[in-house]
Formats: sequence, C-alpha cells, structure tokens
Amino acid sequence: LEAMSSLLVTGGAGFIGSNFVHYVVQHTDHDVVVLDSLTYAGDEASLAGLPADRVRLVVGDVADAEQVDPLVAAADAVVHYAAESHNDNSLADPSAFLQTNIVGTYTLLEAARKHGTRFHHISTDEVYGDLELDDPEKFTPETPYNPSSPYSSTKAGSDLLVRAWVRSFGVEATISNCSNNYGPRQHVEKFIPRQITNLLDGVRPRLYGEGLNVRDWIHADDHSAAVLRILEAGRIGETYLIGADGEVNNREVIETILTEMGRSADDFDHVRDRPGHDMRYAIDAAKLREELGWEPQFTDFRSGLRDTIAWYRDNESWWRGQKAEVEAKYAKAGH
Ligand code: NAD
Ligand code: DAU
Repeated sequence: LEAMSSLLVTGGAGFIGSNFVHYVVQHTDHDVVVLDSLTYAGDEASLAGLPADRVRLVVGDVADAEQVDPLVAAADAVVHYAAESHNDNSLADPSAFLQTNIVGTYTLLEAARKHGTRFHHISTDEVYGDLELDDPEKFTPETPYNPSSPYSSTKAGSDLLVRAWVRSFGVEATISNCSNNYGPRQHVEKFIPRQITNLLDGVRPRLYGEGLNVRDWIHADDHSAAVLRILEAGRIGETYLIGADGEVNNREVIETILTEMGRSADDFDHVRDRPGHDMRYAIDAAKLREELGWEPQFTDFRSGLRDTIAWYRDNESWWRGQKAEVEAKYAKAGH
C-alpha cells in the first residue's frame, strides 16, 4: 500500500469500522470511502467530525454488485468490516447473516478479482469454536475451523471464500481474525456497552448464566493498528490472528464496570444463558507480533474500561436511540 492511498472501508459506520476510519485519518495520509448500508448497527454519527475532504460515506449494500463494482475499481484497497455481527441476533433469525456475511463477501471478492484490487478481510476468533477453561493452548492460524453459532459459521464461510479466491483466482487478499473488541461507539446490544448503559439508566447489569465464559478483550484502536500493519506489510494469502492477551471472564468484567461506576461488585442479576454459549476464546498473536512488529498499546483493561465508561457517559445522544429496542428484544429472549 502506498503512503497516500484510497481505502474502501465496508461497514465503516459500525463499531470497529468507524474506529478504524478515525484511526486512519489520525495516523495516515490515506483517503477513505465508507460503504455502509446503515442497518440498525450503522450510524452516520459515528463518522461525525471527520474531514470531508478525506472521508466520504456511500450508503449501499455490499451484496449489491452494481454499487460495489465501481467503488472497488476506484480503490487501492478494500478493508471489509461490513457484517451482521451479533450472536444473539443470529440465534433469533440467521437470514441476514447468510446474505451479508456470505453473499456480501462473495460480491466484494468478485469485484476485487475483476479489478485486481488488494483486499483485506476482517474476521473473528469465533471461527475456531471455543476452548476449555483449562486448555493450555490458544487459537493459532493452524487451529481447525469449528464455529458454533449461525454468526460464526457465516464468518467462517466468508473466510473460506477469501482463501479460495486467493488460490483459484489470484486475488491479493489477507485475513485477520480478532478477539472481542471494546471501546467507543459499540452498539448497546453488546455485552460491555449494555451493562454501562444499564447502570447509567439505573438498571442492574445482566450476566448470562454463571458468567465464567472468558473473552480475550482488545481495544478497538489496537485492532485498527494491527489491520494497518497487515495492509502495509502482510503477506498475500496469509491469515493473521489479532489479540492482546486480554483474557477475562464475564463476571469479572461486570464486577469491574460496577466498581468503576461506584457500585457494589455484586449488584448484578444472572439471566438466561445463551444457547450453545462458547466457553472461552484466547488468541496467540505471535505471528502478528514477530512478523509485523505489532504490539498492543492498551494493556490495562481496567483503565481502558474507565475511558469507555466515560465515553458512554458523555455521549448519551449517540446511544439513547438504540437502548429501548435492544432491551425489549432481550426481554423477549429472557436475557
Ligand atoms: P457492527 O455490527 O457494529 O457494524 C457492522 C456495520 O456493517 C454496520 O455499520 C452496518 O450498517 C454495516 N452493514 C451490515 N450489513 C451491511 C451490508 N449488507 N452492506 C453494507 N453495510 C452493512 O459490527 P462490529 O462489531 O463493528 O464488527 C465489524 C466486523 O468486525 C465484522 O466483520 C465482525 O465480524 C468483525 N469482528 C468483530 C469483533 C467484535 O468484537 N465486535 C471481533 C472480531 C471481528
Ligand atoms: O470474539 C469476537 C466476537 O466478539 C465478534 O466476532 C462478535 O462480532 C462480537 O459480537 C463478540 O461476540 P460475543 O458473543 O463474544 O460478544 P457479546 O458482546 O455478545 O457477549 C460477550 C460475552 O458476554 C458473551 O460470553 C455473552 C455475555 N453476555 C452478553 C450480553 C449481551 C452477558 O453475560 N450478558 C449480556 O447482556
């Protein structure tokens, strides 16, 4: 990737995509075109304050070949974040996950193939299934795919499409599989913002089951820095795992949020568990660290959470419109 390139960022009005766009504007000279269909999870407000001469939003669907084709043709690289991203939604109705995650990725790959455009595919550690709590091994690029949910199976499918388009058609693609992100602008359906905004609303946090499930938390900015490194120096056809050694169980996350918000650590409720709930994710990011020299900057989870709590406290207008509908949906599912 040249120093002043034009990036097509799909899903750039969502949580991680918008953090990436802000990061690119701050840390590089690249221009960005965001392609986002503004589903319930996308918000133009997440791109507010960015310079209009460097960032442009195109509202459109990644599965719409006519719209995708000229955008991919004009870009130096595609960074593909757009997806249906929430496991609980995929359990209630998987159809949009098949359409966006599988057909959308296929549509972009066909355009990248036609125009010879560099392609980076954003994926998740959930494609590897889950680990036992006491498993000494972590996920590596060699771990066999074993996804559990409709969401993760469609992400696994999209990864396999990318690999096949590299091998069969010579598409210049890379893949990254990252662990759980936290930070500003995450939809309030997700675990951490749900609990923070519950507390801001005077509602007790909700822990699925016993809450011993472990997630490997990474700050969204560390994810963005890793993706940029892969765009700059990643080897075509390779898969890089992104994680910051941030394993914490859900119960400890809730206790940390509660104490940071001035409440007693046991002031939460246990609710119905997620069907098929993955027990533990853990990433071995040695390849990314050793080959590309990436290191996470946010290594203190408690202080990262403190900043995230402050962001939700200061930006109620960003999340208020999401909250009632999300809680109504969770109430229906017993969560
Ligand atoms: P998100 O749900 O916050 O954002 C998704 C964005 O994609 C939204 O802006 C939405 O409007 C857009 N979108 C959805 N369908 C679209 C379509 N058909 N066409 C165009 N745009 C569409 O998701 P997120 O948490 O930011 O995740 C972004 C990506 O990162 C996903 O590919 C996800 O699988 C991956 N990922 C997420 C995490 C995490 O912890 N959240 C971790 C690893 C990987
Ligand atoms: O591992 C990466 C994945 O992380 C991404 O691929 C997904 O897009 C992203 O949504 C996330 O998936 P999870 O299912 O791990 O995230 P979620 O925020 O939904 O839940 C995190 C954990 O918290 C999970 O074990 C379920 C639990 N949970 C969730 C909610 C919403 C609760 O205990 N209470 C809740 O209210």
